[in-house]
Amino acid sequence: MNKRRASVAIFPGSFDPITNGHLDIVIRGLSVFQEIVIAILVNPEKRPLFTVEERVEIVSRVFRGQRKVRVDTFSGLLVHYARRAGASVIIRGLRAISDFEYEFQMALMNRRLDPRIETVFMMPAESYSYVSSRLVKEVFELGGRVSDLVPPVVEKRLRDKYRPRGSRLPARAAR
Ligand code: PNS
Repeated sequence: MNKRRASVAIFPGSFDPITNGHLDIVIRGLSVFQEIVIAILVNPEKRPLFTVEERVEIVSRVFRGQRKVRVDTFSGLLVHYARRAGASVIIRGLRAISDFEYEFQMALMNRRLDPRIETVFMMPAESYSYVSSRLVKEVFELGGRVSDLVPPVVEKRLRDKYRPRGSRLPARAAR
């Protein structure tokens, strides 16, 4: 593969919210690629917990000061976005075999749509192999601890989200 073309990689996803598993993949990705663009999907059909604007802000805070990480949004086909962003690689995290079928289908469909773009799978640390944005939200909403699973800013934003409007109570007591 041409060295220059492999320098920018897209890490796409919903990031609702970003977890330590995502963070782990970005850090690993930076040892392989010169720049990583975290591309947040704008999907009007989904009802996310955090708006796209909130997710951009949260992810930007997580990577503040890291010049090799850029945060962006996209809609439409991922491969079209990747070309526009000057990337020839898509990074996806693979946590377990259960991820594989969906990821395999997406990678092959994306290859069919644009054979110039390669999907690269990266494995997060085992300690994050069970962590997903969906479970983090569920556990937090039901009063469980997520501090080891998400960056501190995400935990704070989760607390703000679930705090009833106008409440003066600490968020956890208010839930
Ligand atoms: O974090 P997610 O929700 O697993 O990310 C899924 C994502 C955003 C990578 C995927 O839904 C996507 O690429 N959507 C864009 C639309 C597209 O290109 N579809 C065809 C790909 S097979």
